[in-house]
Amino acid sequence: MILKSKLSVCLFLLLFVLLGLASTKSYCTGKEKEIRESVPELLTPAPMSQPRINGPLVYGCRPGHPFLYRIPCQGSRPLSFSAKGLPFGLKLDPSTGIVSGTVPGKGEYEITIQATNSKGKDSRTFKIVAGDQLALTPPMGWNHWYAHYDRITDQMMREAADVMISSGMADVGYQYVNIDDCWMNAPKNNDPKRVGPLRDDQGNVIPNSYFPDMKGLTNYIHAKGLKAGIYTSPGTLTCGGFTGAYKHEEQDARQFAAWGFDFLKYDWCSYGDIAGKDNSIEAFQKPYRQMGTILKSLDRDIVFNLCQYGMGDVWKWGGEVGGHCWRTSGDLGFELDRIFDVSLRNCEHREYSKPGEWNDPDYIQIGYIGNAGKMGIPELTAMPAAMQYAYMSMWSLMAAPLIYSGDMSKLDAFTLNVLCNPEIIRVNQDPLGECALVIKRTDECFLMVKNLLDGSKAVGLFNRGKSAMEVKVDWSELHITGKHTVRDLWREKNLGHFTQQFSTSIPAQGVVMVNIDNK
Ligand code: GLA
Repeated sequence: MILKSKLSVCLFLLLFVLLGLASTKSYCTGKEKEIRESVPELLTPAPMSQPRINGPLVYGCRPGHPFLYRIPCQGSRPLSFSAKGLPFGLKLDPSTGIVSGTVPGKGEYEITIQATNSKGKDSRTFKIVAGDQLALTPPMGWNHWYAHYDRITDQMMREAADVMISSGMADVGYQYVNIDDCWMNAPKNNDPKRVGPLRDDQGNVIPNSYFPDMKGLTNYIHAKGLKAGIYTSPGTLTCGGFTGAYKHEEQDARQFAAWGFDFLKYDWCSYGDIAGKDNSIEAFQKPYRQMGTILKSLDRDIVFNLCQYGMGDVWKWGGEVGGHCWRTSGDLGFELDRIFDVSLRNCEHREYSKPGEWNDPDYIQIGYIGNAGKMGIPELTAMPAAMQYAYMSMWSLMAAPLIYSGDMSKLDAFTLNVLCNPEIIRVNQDPLGECALVIKRTDECFLMVKNLLDGSKAVGLFNRGKSAMEVKVDWSELHITGKHTVRDLWREKNLGHFTQQFSTSIPAQGVVMVNIDNK
């Protein structure tokens, strides 16, 4: 009897330990996590009521193509916008701040934007570079995958666009509203409404019944000044088993442009069956070079996102085949518990990061996300608050695309606080396009340093450990001397002048991200 009860206590303990391990090892979600560890401190100060213009300083586009740009600006509404130096062919709606029209001829156009409300005004320069390049700063937006998987609908996409505006995300620079996999028909699927003819008699791809009006959807997104993204695979089937573009590449790309899409994610998936055992660089490049060439021939700017998980060192040739960003590894959804390692690996490819060509370590998965292994229903992430700030800091320092992939209908104040800090985002969008250099790395802490256009440096002091730790950066490590102003970017607050070094306490699994001036 005693033995029996001892055995059951042991079994119970074992189960308890295993469950504990499961919940700490991965940041997959669970009901019990819905109560956050107390109420996390909000680092980003609330936006002020005066206007504050955000967004990139430079913007690439191709002459003669449709132009659309909503000026990201915080401040109480109504705001009134004006612009000096707008080239012929572009017009600004003064009440929405949406600039639209046709991209002017090749050249650089320096514009001064001004935003005014009853509390004050702000102005800022903005350079439109009409030429061959797109994505001169890392793309920012939202992608449905880690929230809605194969449950995505037209309605959810429209709601995401609504929330991008109403939440203030668009006011700090988020602009792409991107559909991932599962918008087409599949030859077979658990949901009969996603099964149907793959193509019509002319070979045109047919969206499934949850996407009745693609043109209507992009019109809806564009009317808000936002941009729309779509997804397919060079294979016969996408990773989710939906129809791919194989042997219809040009037809599909033309269709995407005709529907009005501005961004294409091209996911290798079943293309492996076509490439076979050929592991040459040329074989890895082939489908991307083909699509890159097609996209360049279209009369629409479409940002090209390569998704092939880093095969053949894609960072070395992604730009050359026409890509603007490329995933450097597998799906982060399966690696979220190793977020620091993923970033450190991504940083190894820093020399390939430049305007128009970005290393992509995958999406920002915070807030309500669905477990990737189960394509689960979105639940609140169990990732500690401090680590979420570290996550966003690393992506900004690495000049990674900032694509949020949680449930937009459940955005809470904390998640928005992590996603929407203009000073952190400014580091990400810096026109130099540099990916941070990792210096002074130990098992528990590391420093990331990114040079910015104005000659200042952004530095992330990271602590991977389980308790707070003092972390220091020496001026000698930054190749600077003398007295410098150090600014805490998350808190948007100057910390004072420092000579020789800066040292501060970093929360467990967290970050302090600072700017060190160039004076
Ligand atoms: C792959 C990609 C993901 C997502 C899914 C869709 O796994 O890496 O980002 O697009 O396919 O099936």
